[in-house]
Amino acid sequence: MRVIRFTLLLALAAAMVGCDDEAKPSAVSSNGIPSDPALAQIYTNSCQLCHANPAANAPLTGDRQAWAPRIQQGTDTLLDHAINGYNGMPPMGQCVECSQEQFLQLIGFMADQPLPQ
Ligand code: HEC
Repeated sequence: MRVIRFTLLLALAAAMVGCDDEAKPSAVSSNGIPSDPALAQIYTNSCQLCHANPAANAPLTGDRQAWAPRIQQGTDTLLDHAINGYNGMPPMGQCVECSQEQFLQLIGFMADQPLPQ
């Protein structure tokens, strides 16, 4: 089931890339996934299922306003909530093999703003 869904997402992402002829270099590629391939794979396999789905009640990727108050909690709290879970946010966002560094990169990507030091 997961594999089928992932394949669908990939097909969708590919279709979206085809429509966008204005490719600008940035941390976010034109199809709304991280431009780093390793990070993109983690993102599409886990975070994206909820963080790009309004029904999941998660702060959405690229929604700076939704992320702003969360960012203000500080990086340590964000990382703690990502690793240990927080309400509807499952521990490690269902990515058991993710490193701390990757979580920070994913959070920065989804929040579309730098995390406080
Ligand atoms: C099963 C759904 C789901 C998945 C998968 C998921 N999240 Fe979340 N996440 C949520 C929900 C729901 C919230 C909002 C929780 C709340 O504020 O009550 C959330 C909130 C967060 C927050 C903010 C926590 C805070 O302190 O405000 C961070 C950071 C986060 N997720 C990171 C991630 C990362 C990184 C991944 C992928 C590795 C991921 N999430 C995958 C559902 C998910």
